[in-house]
Amino acid sequence: MNILLLGSGGREHALAWKMAQSPKTDRLFIAPGNAGTAQAGTNVSIKADDFPAIKTFVLENKIEMVVVGPEDPLVKGIYDYFQNDSLLSHIPVIGPSKTGAMLEGSKDFAKAFMQRHRIPTARYKSISVENLEEGYAFLETLEAPYVLKADGLAAGKGVLIIDHLDEAKRELKGMLDGMFGDASKTVVIEEFLDGIECSVFVMTDGTHYKILPVAKDYKRIGEGNTGLNTGGMGAVSPVPFADDTFMAKVEERIIRPTIDGLKKENIDYKGFIFLGLISVKNEPLVIEYNCRMGDPETEVVMLRIQSDLIELLEGVAKGDLDKRSLTEDPRAAVTVMLVSGGYPEEYEKNKVISGLDQLSSENIIFHAGTRSDNEEILTSGGRVIAVSSYGKDKDEALAKSFAGAETIRFDKKYFRSDIGFDL
Ligand code: AMP
Ligand code: GLY
Repeated sequence: MNILLLGSGGREHALAWKMAQSPKTDRLFIAPGNAGTAQAGTNVSIKADDFPAIKTFVLENKIEMVVVGPEDPLVKGIYDYFQNDSLLSHIPVIGPSKTGAMLEGSKDFAKAFMQRHRIPTARYKSISVENLEEGYAFLETLEAPYVLKADGLAAGKGVLIIDHLDEAKRELKGMLDGMFGDASKTVVIEEFLDGIECSVFVMTDGTHYKILPVAKDYKRIGEGNTGLNTGGMGAVSPVPFADDTFMAKVEERIIRPTIDGLKKENIDYKGFIFLGLISVKNEPLVIEYNCRMGDPETEVVMLRIQSDLIELLEGVAKGDLDKRSLTEDPRAAVTVMLVSGGYPEEYEKNKVISGLDQLSSENIIFHAGTRSDNEEILTSGGRVIAVSSYGKDKDEALAKSFAGAETIRFDKKYFRSDIGFDL
């Protein structure tokens, strides 16, 4: 089968690495890809949300499946674009419809969906300029800290957690006044939940589902989970507290009602659902939905799937996912993200990366922000390279990834050396 994968980060390199291992894969293209995805397939210089250019490429290259990595094309409706075009409608797009993608694209939509289907999540109220006074009143019923979320996509920056009531009221007003542009024209105020988070990934054909290996990511830039939020500094799988008892609750209270709820509401969803969960006294609640795989979680989840990914994705497309098997690798997998100094604020690009040829064969390298220039590989983003490894447990895997992280060199490289510390 000829496959087109959309996206250009570490997540996409990990997906491409796994897809390239399938005997079912004939040609694999990645648009636009990076220097790493070029090792697993062929990069195509098309932006992941340039639908007309994607259409032309798909038809010219006899693409038989499109796998969507990031949320942007999904929220913009790539699934519907294919469905509504007679030349494209027979080609499966792995990812939800535009309405399904609103589980990520609108926090207000996601919260209302959870409320309709009695899925456990924090108490909330959606506020716009019209009912600002209700927002102030709701804040007064809550205890500190206060959680304010921009309704729309805000590149992972749209959540404020605030200690004082007065400040929360001021920030609420500021958000509605356009702090995050149109994304914060509606703000979701939430009760603060105190617990430990994990990422659960579900693959669904709209009726059946498979639960992928659970992972935990490390979002803050600084050790001990301090400092600014980033796209993700590392990840670990499995997650010890997400044991069978916890996961049985997740399946019964969250996954089944989510899949059944989508079906009941006639929302087309054939793809990945990412549940950002929090465990509060061993009870799972949903912090957020995403309509795609996580990054850097994918850089460990792909290592822990033994089954053929294309075989599973065919099940998603054909609606017979229940007839396909998913086997997990019993080993632990971890990833450590190398980032450009200064990230997630200002940082420099175009640094030469060296040491990649000196790595141990125990490291599996996924490029996040890199590009090739003649013989050299240069940094091209804040997150640069994810160093993944297996181990009999997380500590053994981490020792290998940290050694790899030291071996790879570029000017102002930084990584967190405490990934997994809280497990
Ligand atoms: P989100 O974009 O909704 O995932 O929020 C970003 C981060 O903010 C989450 O990963 C949590 O660490 C934190 N967060 C969001 N909502 C809550 C909440 N209700 N209580 C505590 N922390 C939260
Ligand atoms: N690692 C969190 C995310 O992909 O949104």
